[in-house]
Amino acid sequence: MSLDIVILAAGQGTRMRSALPKVLHEVAGKSMLGHVIDTARALAPRKIHVVIGHGAEQVRQRLAAEDIHFVLQAEQLGTGHAVAQAMPQVDADKVLILYGDVPLTRVETLAALLQQVNEQQLGLLTVQLADPSGYGRIIRDAAGEVQAIVEHKDASEAQRAIREGNTGILAVPGKRLGEWLGRLSNSNAQGEYYLTDVIAMAVADGLRVATETAAEEMEVLGANDRLQLAQLERYYQLRAARQLMAQGVTLRDPARFDVRGEVQAGRDVLIDVNVILEGKVLIEDGVQIGANCVIKDSILRRGAQVKANSHLDGAELGEGADCGPFARLRPGSRLGAGAHVGNFVELKNAVLGAGAKAGHLSYLGDAEVGARSNIGAGTITCNYDGANKHRTVMGEDVFIGSNTALVAPISLGDGATTGAGSVVTSDVPEQGLAVARARQRVIESWKRPQKQR
Ligand code: UD1
Ligand code: CA
Repeated sequence: MSLDIVILAAGQGTRMRSALPKVLHEVAGKSMLGHVIDTARALAPRKIHVVIGHGAEQVRQRLAAEDIHFVLQAEQLGTGHAVAQAMPQVDADKVLILYGDVPLTRVETLAALLQQVNEQQLGLLTVQLADPSGYGRIIRDAAGEVQAIVEHKDASEAQRAIREGNTGILAVPGKRLGEWLGRLSNSNAQGEYYLTDVIAMAVADGLRVATETAAEEMEVLGANDRLQLAQLERYYQLRAARQLMAQGVTLRDPARFDVRGEVQAGRDVLIDVNVILEGKVLIEDGVQIGANCVIKDSILRRGAQVKANSHLDGAELGEGADCGPFARLRPGSRLGAGAHVGNFVELKNAVLGAGAKAGHLSYLGDAEVGARSNIGAGTITCNYDGANKHRTVMGEDVFIGSNTALVAPISLGDGATTGAGSVVTSDVPEQGLAVARARQRVIESWKRPQKQR
């Protein structure tokens, strides 16, 4: 059975009060439409059609992909009209209709809905609502069979009392859809071509409407304004937090934890409050992450520790390595097993061997530090000459005195030492000592100026 998915994303989203098209607003660091497209992909359709209108060019640019077919709906004449725009390209046994501003529907829910569809039957996703106002209501007969959907604005008082609402998400036999859409009229309270009218047509044609009910309202909630966007964000985050906790991660406070990407975590991981994980983050067993850390596209090996207020991007901490508090590891930072980076240390494209240490206030860029080497406080690699970047390469067991400036390109052999305060401009051999600073003078006759009384 082939499947086409149509995603409606042409609406303006006036209540967002934004220059950005509504469907490009983000939940968990990904546009709402991006979430819907990813969910659609997980259902392995033949084709994904995205109906765009307001901000069409921006949406197209942001989400262009091989498997996505954009359809322009120049004028927004209703959800039925929107689906009709995609129909010339639709060719499948089943058609699923999703919405670019309803980002968090689970793949399992949609898969269950699609199970219901065949030539004799539609699948409709409904939701029980505490306050159904604004929603289309599901009209059932005495036997409980769905007969129609009536929009809130067209509904009678009695119909408005119905709590079962239309999510808008609908799966239909593809062979019939085009014909039903062609018969829609816009003689209703809003003067729109309602997709929902397809239900009554299908029933009149002798088809049955099977329903699935979304387990949680948030799963089918759309974001019309920034408050709803924030509610979706929190729901997403709590769901992500729950998943990680189920896998063996302790979150000190799941309400103060954010995932904006894909996290893989082992067991007995401890994450303190206000941690943000972005992109692809791999966290092995026994890792500890302190408060207020931002960790993006990084790998934390078994037992590694990221202490409070650290910022990692494209970094890897080896087994038992640690960094922070207040460490900044930029792309290409790699700490070997047991290596240590302390406070106010910035690394960029820098590799520290096993057990190497940079405890305080340093910048190591384009650098290689051998195992067990110790970088004194205030050490700076001068890696940039204004035009090019140069490398600093140190062997094992090197000892860099505090406040050394290493002017790259430069290399230091195993066991080399630099004196504190040195500006080192040429290579230092194995076991050698480089001292490159002014000699101290002591002036015993000097008198400190006195204040006049
Ligand atoms: C729709 C349903 C309603 C359901 C509700 C759930 C219809 C007629 N009504 O109402 O039963 O309870 O969703 O939220 O379908 N869109 C287009 N082009 C258009 C019109 C809409 O792309 O011409 C898109 C919008 O961008 C939006 C979605 O379709 O993402 C829903 O449209 P909207 O006008 O908000 O429908 P509702 O009135 O909320
Ligand atoms: Ca709506």
